[in-house]
Amino acid sequence: MAKVTYHLPDGEARTVEVPTGQSVMDGSVRNNLPGIVAECGGSCSCATCHVYLPAGAHAQFDDPTEEELELVEFLEGAQPNSRLACQLIISDQDEIHVEVVDSGL
Ligand code: FES
Repeated sequence: MAKVTYHLPDGEARTVEVPTGQSVMDGSVRNNLPGIVAECGGSCSCATCHVYLPAGAHAQFDDPTEEELELVEFLEGAQPNSRLACQLIISDQDEIHVEVVDSGL
């Protein structure tokens, strides 16, 4: 379980508890938070779950797969710290912060 703080596109921040094994995307969708659309339901194909990780947070998660890297590469607003939230799986991290990127949908 981890406390995940979602820094939303409108400047608000919301913190929710997300169980181990779920993704950062699941935590957003299950709590009805705005910004993460998750059209494909987490199968790493829609890229509507784009988030930025703060400096140093990459070590909290597994490295992105080739599939994820290819999707992120073509996203508007892609940065070196871009990730797809459905690929960020919660283990026993204490606190996680992500910046939700407005997908424009
Ligand atoms: S939910 Fe579709 S790629 Fe993450």
